[in-house]
Order: sequence, then C-alpha cells, then structure tokens
Amino acid sequence: MNIKLKDKVEQTFLQQFGYDATHFVRAPGRVNLIGEHTDYNDGFVLPCAINFAALVAASPREDKLVRVIAVDYDNAADEFLIHSEISQSRQNWANYIRGVVKHLVLKGLVFNGADIVVSGDVPQGAGLSSSAALEVVIGQTFKVLYNLQLTQQEIALNGQQAENQFVGCNCGIMDQLISAQAQKDHALLIDCRSLATTPVAIPDNLRILIINSNKKRGLVDSEYNTRRKQCEQAAAVLGVKALRDVNLAMFNQRINELESITAKRARHIITENQRTLDAADALQRNDMMQLQRLMAESHASMRDDFEITVAEIDFLVDIIKAEIGVRGGVRMTGGGFGGCVVAVLPANLVEQVIIAVNEQYHQHTQLTASVFICNAEQGAQQFFS
Ligand code: GLA
Repeated sequence: MNIKLKDKVEQTFLQQFGYDATHFVRAPGRVNLIGEHTDYNDGFVLPCAINFAALVAASPREDKLVRVIAVDYDNAADEFLIHSEISQSRQNWANYIRGVVKHLVLKGLVFNGADIVVSGDVPQGAGLSSSAALEVVIGQTFKVLYNLQLTQQEIALNGQQAENQFVGCNCGIMDQLISAQAQKDHALLIDCRSLATTPVAIPDNLRILIINSNKKRGLVDSEYNTRRKQCEQAAAVLGVKALRDVNLAMFNQRINELESITAKRARHIITENQRTLDAADALQRNDMMQLQRLMAESHASMRDDFEITVAEIDFLVDIIKAEIGVRGGVRMTGGGFGGCVVAVLPANLVEQVIIAVNEQYHQHTQLTASVFICNAEQGAQQFFS
C-alpha cells in the first residue's frame, strides 16, 4: 500500500469537499506473465496484479449527484447525475468513471451519488492497465458504498463494458478481471471464455521484474483493433466461434485458406494459448527451464507473427536474456507497440539485470528505462488504514 497516496486522496477529499471521506478503496494495475491478445479470442491469460494501484477516497450522498476530483489531473473536477443517459465528458479521464456508473445503472442497480477523490500510481501509457484499475476501483467503490449485490467478476465485466461502449476501446476482459479478482502472491490463469480462474502460486524464490521501455506508445488503439479484426477474420474462415477453438494441427492443415498476414496473426494466438497453459503448469512446478523457453517463444511470436513489438522492446529483451540465460524468462507484456517487458527470475539475479539495463539501454536508444520489482497483490478491495 502506498501510504503517501492514501494521505493524498484523504487530504484532498477534506480540502475539496470540506468533510472527511468515509471509505477508501483500491484496485491494482497488472502485469501479464504470458498470454498476449488471447483474451478476446476466448483464450487463456496468466496475469498477476501489481503493487501499483488506483486509489479512491469516497463518501455516499443522499442525492443522485456524483462529484469527482482527479488528483493526477491537477485536481480537475467532474460532476454528473446518476441516470441511464449519462453522456460523454470532454475530459477523457472522466469518461472511465461516467462509463462505469452508467453501466451499473443499465444493469438495473439502484444507488445514490457519491463524492469521490481518485489518484493512482500505475504508470500511465505503459501497458500496465491504469485504465482498468480506474474502472474497477470505481465499480468497487459503488459496491462498498451501497452494498451492491455485485460479484468481483461482474465489476470486471462492467468495467470492460464501460471501456468498450463508452470510452470506445475494444479491449478484452483480462485487465479488469485480474484487477478485480487477483490473489496475493499468485498469478491467475484465466479462461477468457468461461471466466474460470485458477490461482497459481508464485514460488518464493522468484521475483517479477517490470522494465518500462518509456518508449511512447503510438497507434495503440487502431493497431489493437486491427489485430482483433484479423483474428475474427481468421476464425470466420476456419468456421469456429473464436481462435480458441483451433489447435495447431487443424491450423497447419488449413493454413492455405488464410491470407498470409491473417495466418500469421492466427498462428500467434493458437500457439500462445498452448504456451499459456504450459507456462501456468511450469510456474506451479517452479520449472524455470520450461518457463523461460515458453516466454522466449511468446516474445518471438509477438515480434514475428503478431508484429506488436518495437525495436526498443526487442533490445531490452535481448539485454535481459543475455544476463539470465535459461535461469529466468523475459518477454514483452501488454498490448504492445512500446510499454513494458516482464521478467520472471530468481531473486539473486535481479541486481545484475538492473545494472545491465542501466548500462546498455540508454546508450543504444537514448531512452531511460524504469525498473520495478513487483509483488503479486490482492485484487480490488476496501481498505481502512
Ligand atoms: C490490452 C487489453 C487486454 C489484452 C491485452 C493484450 O491490455 O486491454 O484486454 O487484450 O492488451 O494481451
């Protein structure tokens, strides 16, 4: 828990609204260990929540007004009334909140307004799901303020609907689901078709390292939506509901029916699904040889078949791979086109990796990477101190 952040939302609440907040809620960002772009193909993912989160201080109101202050946007304010016609704001950050509330109302839930102060320390635009954390923290806030009958899964789905239908990004369910349902010290194997989750303990001797390339992500939404369409095209040609339903043997037999780009996109998804299942098993058994192989293959598949990596990210992966060899895994994580690399490695290799990144990355790219050693955190919850 970031105490400073809690103090900040608490104090801002008192300053802005003139009374003390009654509730504090947090929802974490995430890092995906493996299973990239598989979620919207009804496939498998293996993320864990991280110790960076969106935080809210809130109090219920007796009318239908919602007042929000965003600490991270210079205390910018938003206000709206709760009903099913909540409209778009000109402030982008506010739409995540409006969208979540609107979709709660559309579900038929009845509740009053709230005073809310929100802040967070999930790096934005780094592919660590700061938006999902925001959507989930707002859903969780209304759940605790009004004792709403909502499961964690419903909070996640509601956040995804807000993002798909209100904000306009066609994302899958992974980010919201892990933010809402994560278990401390575990990754979660998620079946994105049934939404069944299986916790996988992260062995004590391992560390999760996130290395932010700080490469500005460009064209993310349009490229993301293009990849999604290509996957849907491939599924349509192969006559299945989603690429989840295709195995490698079937794909290889029918590859000639697909255009070459579509075939490459499909091959990434089909092989990545299997790798994700195998990686969950390897992590469980603390089999690093296997885990590092799967993560290396995943990275190569994202680079060559799905074509979502950039030179800076490939370079970071190479620097880290040269240090850890077969003792740990490393790959790009998240939607792609910049963002972060994730490494899963024994604790005693962490320092050496950080030194290598600091020595080599800036020199070759003129960018400075930021490195975070992460704990796998609990999902969204109310907290008291
Ligand atoms: C983004 C989306 C997720 C998922 C990943 C790629 O984070 O929000 O739903 O598709 O990209 O794995």
